[in-house]
Amino acid sequence: MTDVQSDAFVFFGATGDLAFKQIFPALVGLIRDEGFDLPIIGVARSGDLDSLRDRARASLANAGIQDEATEARLIAQLRYVKGDDDDLDMFRRLRTELGSAAHPLHYLAIPPSLFEAVIDNLERSGSAKGARIIVEKPFGRDLASARELNATVHRVFAEGSIFRIDHYLGKEPVQNLLYFRFANSFLEPIWRSEHVASIQITMAEAFDVADRGAFFDQAGTIRDVIQNHLLQVLSLLTMEAPSGRSPEAIRTQKFKVLDSLRPLRAEDVVRGQYRGYRSVRGVAPDSTVETFAALRLHLDTWRWGGVPIYVRAGKALPVTATEVLVELRQPPQMVFHEVEPPDGNYLRFRLTPDMSISLGARAKLPGEAMRGEAVELFARHQSGEERPPYQRLIGDARKGDQSLFAREDSVEAAWKVIDPVLHDEPPVHEYVRGSWGPAAAANVLARGDHWHDPLNSEVPA
Ligand code: BG6
Repeated sequence: MTDVQSDAFVFFGATGDLAFKQIFPALVGLIRDEGFDLPIIGVARSGDLDSLRDRARASLANAGIQDEATEARLIAQLRYVKGDDDDLDMFRRLRTELGSAAHPLHYLAIPPSLFEAVIDNLERSGSAKGARIIVEKPFGRDLASARELNATVHRVFAEGSIFRIDHYLGKEPVQNLLYFRFANSFLEPIWRSEHVASIQITMAEAFDVADRGAFFDQAGTIRDVIQNHLLQVLSLLTMEAPSGRSPEAIRTQKFKVLDSLRPLRAEDVVRGQYRGYRSVRGVAPDSTVETFAALRLHLDTWRWGGVPIYVRAGKALPVTATEVLVELRQPPQMVFHEVEPPDGNYLRFRLTPDMSISLGARAKLPGEAMRGEAVELFARHQSGEERPPYQRLIGDARKGDQSLFAREDSVEAAWKVIDPVLHDEPPVHEYVRGSWGPAAAANVLARGDHWHDPLNSEVPA
């Protein structure tokens, strides 16, 4: 079915937050840029077609999209089916609404607890036949629930028809990680433990959990962004070159990385919670859920054995930026006897909010003394403008292209890495908003290493 285009788009949770923030804007982009001219059917428990159309208009206004012609096309393509996820009649009405469509694309923008009922009813109503399904993260809460969820989806859909969305994979700068690594030959000889001292990934968000308290308090930073987004980034950064040209070859190498990561031990993890989090609406007053986490990972492969991999993510930090820093080893001899320790040999991949790839080096300062300064050579810098990840990913799912979606084995391998610390949680340390998390975050670092705080947009315009 890989070369068949889906001929209808169905989204469950049509009145929800995800549809409002991401799906409607993505659909407009698809209609404008990619001739997405199929029926678009929203499914929800309340409202009617008119209210769904109003919601679509409000969503586009909220996203700052002013394109009347495309908006009118989206409004005309919209259909609506109302009912409960456990009501088979509703699914029969959906099948009728699908008309002659033989390959619908179903998007489950609903909590995972509702997946089972929806999937069963899709099958019983005949709506799953020839169909593809997109499922949203979080894909499980831990390894056991992820396996259960995979089994539930697999009862009805084959792996080739399942699209597990991780919007980080749809981001341009994340794809450029893979491109930059394998479209150039100069990196390969140094991309290994002989030359790399450490790898750091920081995902910092200056904002707090805002109105997502109830959701966040069931998740925490490790489940929310590390198990998925940051481990996916790590796998692109450290994977072996794909063998062969199929998209599956890339997913196989990514899986091998995740499968080679050592499961975390409590001493590899520091959890933090910003002061004031417990008074957020929806958060338990005695919550021990983390809004910050710092981890040290070990990749047991020939290429990366012994290289510490540090991952840090959190909310209410000083800046909003996601960066990967690959620190290179120091020269074997200090030829110039500089007083300050020479640092600055690294590769930096800035992923959000803007994108850059740069090489940190040292260059001599003018004057008699052989003294230098750290400089940064920019291979690429782009502002934050890009095709929204959801547009890219829904478009790919429509074509049946799974390259940028998480495969079952990878999702489970990623859960396997963090599972031990989900069930035996290390203590949570309070930190002050606007700081770099609790001081204890330094405990995961090997002697002599330090956290590199992401640049606050100190990059050339
Ligand atoms: C989501 C998380 O998956 O990713 C959020 O649930 C997080 O907590 C967001 O803020 C970050 O994504 P982006 O694309 O805004 O950097």
